[in-house]
Amino acid sequence: MQDKLYGGRFEAGQDQFFEKFSESLHFDKRLIQADLIGSQAFARALESVGILNSEERAGIVAAFEQIKLESQDPAYFDGATDEDVHSFVIRKLKEKTGALADKIHTGRSRNEQVSLDTRLWLRSTIEATIDATKALMASILDLANKYPHAAIPGYTHMRRAQAVLWPHYLLAYFEMFARDVERLQQAHARTNVLPLGSGALAGSAFPFDRHAIAKDLGFAAITLNSMDVSADRDFVLDYMHAANLVMLHLSRLSEDWILYSSEEFRWMELSDGVTSGSSLMPQKKNPDSLELIRGKCGRVFGAYSALFVTMKGLPLTYNRDMQEDKEQLFDAAEQTIACLNMTTIVARNVSIKPEIPEQACAESWVVATDIAEALSRAGLPFHQSHKLAGRLVLHGIKSGKHPGDFTAAELKEFDSGFTQDFVEILRDPRHGMNTRAVPGGTAPQTVAAALIEAQSRLEKL
Ligand code: ARG
Repeated sequence: MQDKLYGGRFEAGQDQFFEKFSESLHFDKRLIQADLIGSQAFARALESVGILNSEERAGIVAAFEQIKLESQDPAYFDGATDEDVHSFVIRKLKEKTGALADKIHTGRSRNEQVSLDTRLWLRSTIEATIDATKALMASILDLANKYPHAAIPGYTHMRRAQAVLWPHYLLAYFEMFARDVERLQQAHARTNVLPLGSGALAGSAFPFDRHAIAKDLGFAAITLNSMDVSADRDFVLDYMHAANLVMLHLSRLSEDWILYSSEEFRWMELSDGVTSGSSLMPQKKNPDSLELIRGKCGRVFGAYSALFVTMKGLPLTYNRDMQEDKEQLFDAAEQTIACLNMTTIVARNVSIKPEIPEQACAESWVVATDIAEALSRAGLPFHQSHKLAGRLVLHGIKSGKHPGDFTAAELKEFDSGFTQDFVEILRDPRHGMNTRAVPGGTAPQTVAAALIEAQSRLEKL
């Protein structure tokens, strides 16, 4: 049993089971670098309010520096029974500086310290998540540029709907991940605020220059209410929300590609490096990387909802319930970053066979809307155009004809509204695509411009 940071008030020690039940060191040790950086800044702040002289401050800062190095060794924590990382660090400081260490917690509470450490850790974790998202976005653009002219069926209700360009499809994911980066940046801004100086809940009794501490630690601002600091885990939830949306987008991309690479679709090939075989069925090449990404959503969404429920209804201010934030946060972040990296590897190695989706377009009626719209462009009211195009589709299905099979004469006979140019519109979905030149549409020149624009947006993110 270790000495606690409290003791005077108690006559008996803690029940062994409770001690083990409540310790968090085995997971919050991840915060040790943050705890040390924060504590060094706090030692400087203690000097500025006259609690430490410059020699004492230098001794403490140097000891923390030594602990930083020593703690790189994972075995550093072996056998430690401290309640949490904050107690662990103070014990180590005591081992190095003796009685001097007793001054480090002057006017500081673990309630603000845990907020500070989590913010410092999360700040760089958000940056890592943003970097991983941007790397994926770059790989999506590369993949789009590999097949700039490929046409695929776009789906609604998982039925062939209208032809779109392959880069147009990929740019849809680019937009989702661009919003994710924005959300992560917002979460970063809410995290990047200094809580130190808040004390346990009422504000520190020592006249710290909080703005100076914020500057020292690179925070953009200071928190404005000490009770809020002790009670608040919104910044953690903000990040987890952003991470949940990243995962949601990754799961949709995974699902798409699992389908497109299946024998039913046959037009996407995942590389051997990201697939697995079967122990029994020799022919299998399974998309396990994408399935795991889809599957890990359960865990990351679960972590978010677990912390959300933990926070709900907690009375102000700090409650020990809040210690439950960390395992959820750590796991959600680790999984999200791993899934982003995995998807980037999949995207960098995927190939498509453009002729197959092209054929899928030709064999289905993805041009039906183009026909209706061309009729309306020629003057027919849209509801009538829609009906006429629908009748042609039905006729094609019943007579076993694909859109490209119709001759001008057959069309004319079917309805006098079908002029010569409809043969071409039926034969090649690119005619329809060309008409969709509004910003955000799938016309080739629009998509080419959107791709260039996306590249420069990514560079500015
Ligand atoms: N291990 C605690 C946590 O993660 C640190 C704060 C402890 N504060 C307290 N008053 N018990 O929440």
